[in-house]
Amino acid sequence: MSESNANIHTEFHRMLDTEAKEALLQQRGLVVWLYGMSGSGKSTLAVALERFFHDKGRLCQVLDGDNIRHGINRDLGFSLDDRQENIRRIAEIAKLFRRLGVLTITSFITPTNELRASAREIIGSEDLLEVYVKASYAACEERDVKGLYAKAKRGEVKQFTGKDSAFEEPDGADLIIDTETLSVEESVQQLVEAIETRTADPAA
Ligand code: ADX
Repeated sequence: MSESNANIHTEFHRMLDTEAKEALLQQRGLVVWLYGMSGSGKSTLAVALERFFHDKGRLCQVLDGDNIRHGINRDLGFSLDDRQENIRRIAEIAKLFRRLGVLTITSFITPTNELRASAREIIGSEDLLEVYVKASYAACEERDVKGLYAKAKRGEVKQFTGKDSAFEEPDGADLIIDTETLSVEESVQQLVEAIETRTADPAA
């Protein structure tokens, strides 16, 4: 324990617990961690899922790379250390939302297995659905929604994921959504089934 942490006494034992929040909302919380390359379809699926579950009366929150990097993580770049800190902070934020009983959907590249493991360690496997949103570099480059792949090709984006910064295939994912073969609707359907299974009330 660092010296600065030695005098910090957490208050969790006196605060209302997750069950109380979930009972109020009448839903179970879960973190759905979508990861994959830029342009793989993470954000599209995150907002589609949010809309689907919101319409069913479920409180959701999307945490998205570009938004978070304009706010709380505006001090971070794309070195491996900064990506690690980016993921650590997001995992802590996602855990707070999950504790509120919220269906929390994150959309971050999370390029290495070490980063995915660190998110898992913070959130806890039982509260986490890890989803690899899969599309090849070539497919993402072809889509190039933000024009970043063209810029990277011209050498205008440094440490670009999948080019000069590693993107590792996962060594384990709860679900793989291949956006080169599935439509948005088909992808959402598979995700919805997995989320419903994980958030079903065992007492019901
Ligand atoms: S992560 O690697 O730390 O998980 P994150 O998902 O937060 O990345 O941010 C990725 C987003 O930042 C991309 O969708 C893209 O819009 C933007 N971006 C800017 N520079 C880079 C880069 N060098 N590599 C990847 N994405 C970048």
